[in-house]
Amino acid sequence: MNVLLGVGGGIAAYKAAELARALMEGGARVQVVMTAAAQEFVRPLTFAALTGRKVITDLFSSASGDATLSSAVEHIAVAQENGLFAVAPATADLLAKFANGLADDFLTTAYLAFTGPVILAPAMNTNMWLHPATRENVKRLRDRGHRIVEPEEGYLACGMTGAGRLASPDAIARAVLAEGNRRSDLEGETVLVTAGPTQEPIDPVRYLTNRSSGKMGYAIAEAARARGARVILVSGPVHIQAPRDVTLVPVRTANEMRAAVLDRLDKATIIVKSAAVADFHVSRPPEQKIKKTAARLTLELDPTPDILSELGRRKGDRLLIGFAAETENLNREAHRKLETKNCDMIVGNLVGGALGFDSDENEVVLALRTGETVPVERASKRAIADRIFDEALRLRQALHARQ
Ligand code: PMT
Repeated sequence: MNVLLGVGGGIAAYKAAELARALMEGGARVQVVMTAAAQEFVRPLTFAALTGRKVITDLFSSASGDATLSSAVEHIAVAQENGLFAVAPATADLLAKFANGLADDFLTTAYLAFTGPVILAPAMNTNMWLHPATRENVKRLRDRGHRIVEPEEGYLACGMTGAGRLASPDAIARAVLAEGNRRSDLEGETVLVTAGPTQEPIDPVRYLTNRSSGKMGYAIAEAARARGARVILVSGPVHIQAPRDVTLVPVRTANEMRAAVLDRLDKATIIVKSAAVADFHVSRPPEQKIKKTAARLTLELDPTPDILSELGRRKGDRLLIGFAAETENLNREAHRKLETKNCDMIVGNLVGGALGFDSDENEVVLALRTGETVPVERASKRAIADRIFDEALRLRQALHARQ
């Protein structure tokens, strides 16, 4: 595992040396990049001695030592060579630059060129940590899918006591190494994800639908891809961009979604049904637009096929994960749907308030075939997606161990 370790300019910079050592003991290859401010606190030589590699100290210094044109584009090469991007201490200034895409030194430039997982361990004065500007920056970085290793409460170098002290190097190293292992834990799997709403025509210009934006399902597809899976994303009509490197299968109606899923069932080893499929459709939509003639219009609706139940009957040894969007009795309904639809996991989602449909964050409960209920507290949909896969893999091991 190749880790690019950025060191920011704070009093806690010296702890990054311990972090570099812990990462190397965990089997990582570490390339350190120091900001100019960091070098005021610790000498690059400390990190060079620990990692056995030249430390990158500015945009025009090269890890190979020669100041050539190639060193001027080294931030791109460094971003490509490393699978993880960790920063400790991540100062308020660095968080603001990352959040806003500023690129005025090697570390911030490499950040923009980097496409893999990012883990940030902030450290700063309590008031700076609690300032609305920092809160907003942290939220934006979390929404981008980055992991924040929360600072601890305690006595700070500025003389204050409160939140802002860098998490322990061991805790940061554990978070970085766990992220590295996650990178490949879905390799060899084909994950079939359904996302978004369906649209059920009333006539050629009108349809029945719901408020699903596709954000939850697309976050699941992105997480699965980032962890090494092949991903097939069967999506109802949405207005968001599909994640990179997934096979997108656009559909419109529940019947189309059913056909698209069943056609690809043989390929899938894990199925996640996060789509908000319409439960009813107009039996026989007319071919021409319905005219506004009568005072009252009655639509006759038939149930759509229950795709999840059909998958439950044909699941074999696949891991089948369904969703339950509920406005009350979340745990009970999640476990009921787990049983009736023969799933391995149901992600229970309380909807109707601020979370669920069309929100960037979510809060869910995971009802598992083992009978457990795992609450997942409010987080970005991308972070929730990772928790779903963490628990799904743990569940599969537990189910295998039972056999
Ligand atoms: O898309 P977002 O805006 O991000 O919102 C996310 C979400 C709220 C849509 C998502 O988190 C969610 O809860 N998805 C499930 C919505 C739903 O249809 O729930 P349900 O309880 O009605 O259905 C239970 C399960 O059966 C779901 O897995 C659903 O995909 C499936 N189903 C339902 C009806 C049907 N005809 N066929 C199905 O397969």
